[in-house]
Amino acid sequence: MKPVRVGICGFGTVGGGTFNVLQRNFNEITRRTGRSIAVEQIAQRRPNPNCDVGNTAITDDIFAVANNPNVDVLVELIGGHEPAKELVLTAIQNGKHVVTANKALIAVHGNEIFAAARKHNVVVAYEAAIAGGIPIVKALREGLAANSIDWLAGIINGTGNFILTEMRDKGRAFNDVLKEAQALGYAEADPTFDVEGIDAAHKLTILSSVAFGISLQFDQCYTEGISKVSAEDVANAESLGFRIKHLGLTRRTEDGIELRVHPTLIPEKRLLANVHGVMNAVLVEGNAVGPTLYYGSGAGAEPTASAVVADLVDIVRDMAVDQNVRMPSLAFQENAMSDSPILPMDKVVTAFYMRMTVSEKPGVLAQITQILGDAGISIEAIRQQTHVSSQVPVIILTRPVAEGHMNDAIKAIEALQDVSGEVARIRVENLDG
Ligand code: HSE
Repeated sequence: MKPVRVGICGFGTVGGGTFNVLQRNFNEITRRTGRSIAVEQIAQRRPNPNCDVGNTAITDDIFAVANNPNVDVLVELIGGHEPAKELVLTAIQNGKHVVTANKALIAVHGNEIFAAARKHNVVVAYEAAIAGGIPIVKALREGLAANSIDWLAGIINGTGNFILTEMRDKGRAFNDVLKEAQALGYAEADPTFDVEGIDAAHKLTILSSVAFGISLQFDQCYTEGISKVSAEDVANAESLGFRIKHLGLTRRTEDGIELRVHPTLIPEKRLLANVHGVMNAVLVEGNAVGPTLYYGSGAGAEPTASAVVADLVDIVRDMAVDQNVRMPSLAFQENAMSDSPILPMDKVVTAFYMRMTVSEKPGVLAQITQILGDAGISIEAIRQQTHVSSQVPVIILTRPVAEGHMNDAIKAIEALQDVSGEVARIRVENLDG
């Protein structure tokens, strides 16, 4: 049988990894597909020193690949919005299947891209866009298809997790660790995507749609990064039996879907709290299976290539039975998508960690607890550090409360004469189902 011919656009870290995995595991992959996969053409800006491409046709024009009649599947690994979007739409119009690792593209333009793919009866596969090599899209769309998903929470940005891990383990400063993450090649081209949570929000938006069958709504995702997490907060969390993790969390509630990315205190005994360095993990709560946890490398050449090639294998298997589009792009049938709204953040209920600096004098704590009491906010724990000067740090853990009430209470606390500066706050999640 003739091989399935693949065109790779973008031949950097992941492109090179994909090429090498396809070569190295050729026999094993062909045993799985029943039909070999050949790289027909590569579009690259410069040669990848980690790959021996032999006689493979090379171009510097990505659209030459999208318009090449000998290419059956286009692998998009250039990243970003444009020209990636135009490239993918061109390939779709030319009847080619697409495999992409581009989370921004799917999160922001996915609705349009999937509609075009349906029209042209081709697959757009994107496992590699989320959590690198972890087969989380596969797990949600197929392995957990019997379940109604209640919620999922994930560490889905390796750079952010690396920074928080180093801050906790070695007491290192934020900027110092970020520089190292950049040097190690973990960080996005624009590292604010990692530290301000945009990369995680892209990934979470996609996961939420696959979990709940809602359209992609990246602009509705609440996004808060880790740049304001201080070494003091990391140490305080530790002393209270928590770890701070940068979580993406999406949950189905009666009033809508929570969709949020932010630093979060989670109990140190949770497996998710023990995911360190650049590793990723996603915890999914299904109503039949209960909690399931997926862990692995969230970035890197061959871990990401593992997901790209798995998508290729799926496409080749479907081609073999002449069934191009077996799987709905977002897991649910097009006519069965839900219009559940995304819940506004002020309606989201979580517990909170608060840190504030107050004057060391009688009655200050009473004023603060009065404000919290009046707002209906119950205190789980309160700690005032032994006083070393006239200004002392106070830490408060609350019981769960609607975010809108907490915002009002924080405003009132910040307005007190004996509270200086802003109140730092980090949401707390128990993740116990
Ligand atoms: N910058 C991303 C991360 C790469 O750190 O997780 C993988 O998407």
